[in-house]
Amino acid sequence: MRIPIIAGNWKLNNTVSEAVALTTALKALVADSIGVEIIVAPPFTALSAVHNVIAESNIRLSAQDVFWEDSGAFTGEVSAPLLKDVGCDYVIIGHSERRQYFGETNECVNRKVKAALAHGLKPIICVGEQLEEREAGGTETVIENHVTGGIAGLSASDLLSSVIAYEPVWAIGTGKTATPAQAQEVHNFIRGLLTNAYSDEVASQICLQYGGSVKPENAAELMAQPDVDGALVGGASLEAESFAQIVKRAI
Ligand code: 13P
Repeated sequence: MRIPIIAGNWKLNNTVSEAVALTTALKALVADSIGVEIIVAPPFTALSAVHNVIAESNIRLSAQDVFWEDSGAFTGEVSAPLLKDVGCDYVIIGHSERRQYFGETNECVNRKVKAALAHGLKPIICVGEQLEEREAGGTETVIENHVTGGIAGLSASDLLSSVIAYEPVWAIGTGKTATPAQAQEVHNFIRGLLTNAYSDEVASQICLQYGGSVKPENAAELMAQPDVDGALVGGASLEAESFAQIVKRAI
């Protein structure tokens, strides 16, 4: 019932020509993949070129961030209307790297989520605890805080146009994946929060992705968990072959 979503977050990687080459290779490798939503999230500068490559394919386009205002004197920012204009369907919001290096708060994440939804972009809202927080037994508190802060004020239909990605910070780029049981535990906790805030029906429909050192070797086991509906992939999305293999593990 929930279609798995595999998204490649390229982070700060790939020039326009590299992005076009990677997407062209990926498009051929996943051309036959159905029953899975495939997304690539290049840097802003490559969005338009990648959109041309994926036209009429089964790959959707995401940005890695968005600003909450539509236009005006906000030097350096990119808004939801501008992302729609270059063909984005999704936008990643509140990634831990944005929270950690650029000071993004739950309030800022929530404003971005609302701006994305107002313009028909589907937000991929990232949540996740740091290692010290997990070790201190604070995982659920942090996750509850990120989830409730990120989705504050969203209607049920807005929530169902959103994706929540659980990305434990200690698993990002470290090669230390959460075990399938650890991922399942947190995903189940998030679904419980959504049941309380909305309903069982809403909570059972939303897609919850896992992110953090997802590779072709561990993807199947993670996605076999009942509440893990896909993956947000960093490093392994920078090679067409490994990303395509992860896509195939989701089907
Ligand atoms: P890695 O897959 O490189 O650990 O990155 C995960 C991530 O941050 C995706 O958003």
